[in-house]
Amino acid sequence: MSFTSEQLEGFAKKHGVILDTVSPLDFEERKHLLENLVHQTDVPFPIARDRATSYVEHSLQPFGVGTLSNETIDLGAFQNHQDYNSLTFEDHLSWACLINDQKENKELYACTEYLVGEDTFPINGSVIPDYHMLNARLYQQTGWQLATVSTIIPSSLFFHCHRYKFFPVTTFMRPLGTDYLEEPDIGHDLAGHIATFTIPQIAEVMNNHGLAHERISSNMEKELLHVQDENQAAVLKQEAEELLLYAGRIYWYTVEFGLVMQNDRLSAFGAGILSSPSETPYSIESTEATRILIDPSSDRDLLRLATTDYSINEYQKTYFVMRDFKSLSSLTPERIIDVVTEAKYLPHLGWRDILDSDHVISRGTDSMPPDEKYEMLANVPSSPSHSTTA
Ligand SMILES: [Fe+2]
Repeated sequence: MSFTSEQLEGFAKKHGVILDTVSPLDFEERKHLLENLVHQTDVPFPIARDRATSYVEHSLQPFGVGTLSNETIDLGAFQNHQDYNSLTFEDHLSWACLINDQKENKELYACTEYLVGEDTFPINGSVIPDYHMLNARLYQQTGWQLATVSTIIPSSLFFHCHRYKFFPVTTFMRPLGTDYLEEPDIGHDLAGHIATFTIPQIAEVMNNHGLAHERISSNMEKELLHVQDENQAAVLKQEAEELLLYAGRIYWYTVEFGLVMQNDRLSAFGAGILSSPSETPYSIESTEATRILIDPSSDRDLLRLATTDYSINEYQKTYFVMRDFKSLSSLTPERIIDVVTEAKYLPHLGWRDILDSDHVISRGTDSMPPDEKYEMLANVPSSPSHSTTA
């Protein structure tokens, strides 16, 4: 969709963006910055000299998968590239509007570690970051790299990337004027996630999810070798999928939509929250949402996450709040697998449900104790059988 210059000025004004600042650097300027960046040695993960040189030489090509570590990743049909020159002015303006909207929001609602992490990366400007540059910086600071994908990818591939410390990123920017998206875009992937990689426990737990997924899948493959019967094979696959689903819930309620206590107040670190200008204040202040204190090192609390379904098409109705990031270190691959295996045998909950045993910080108006839900169901008047004729 293309906009008139008056409409573009209107968007910029509404979000406090100065239009003249929405001006991407040309290739030579970006290359010069990249040359200086890749040879830095006072970073946690310096880039090997020969690799840095060839990386700059290849920066004329669209960015695909990071090439700075000894690992690589095969994205198959989902492989995509960031062709920086093909990004439109509208794309960059949409990015600038999101960054401006979130600047004050993040100062008010994001946790300290997130804000410190964000300052590490070139992601707060008025133009979409060049992935060659961002990938180099991300690798230097955290050992992780970017891998560009064309669309939302299967969770198996998503966590396969995590296993090798690649983070899948899209090349699509939300249309101007859009806030909540059901699928990730550049705004979510960069303005939401990138800062969290500098929180060591978050980066580690993301990698551990990748390792847990790999082990669950390889255990299934091994068992399938001994199975002749098709039905039995289908059952094994179904069981593995269930485990992966439950692990995905733990990821959702922490990495994507987690809150943390800081100086006796709620703060956000989840990328799903911090990439949405509306959900950021909602997650902390809305009276509709429930907030439950959890300790991820407690099996009971981790099972609460693994057994709770989530919704992707509306703001969250329940947020889980950690006391600090330290407790996340307990989420080793082995423990993730143990907990999701136990979750198979427990009743599962909806995203509005509250249990008596929950440590509720604030109960949302949209919450519902399970008893109440079943009572409502029991009180539905019985109606005559539906006729199949009009
Ligand atoms: Fe995400």
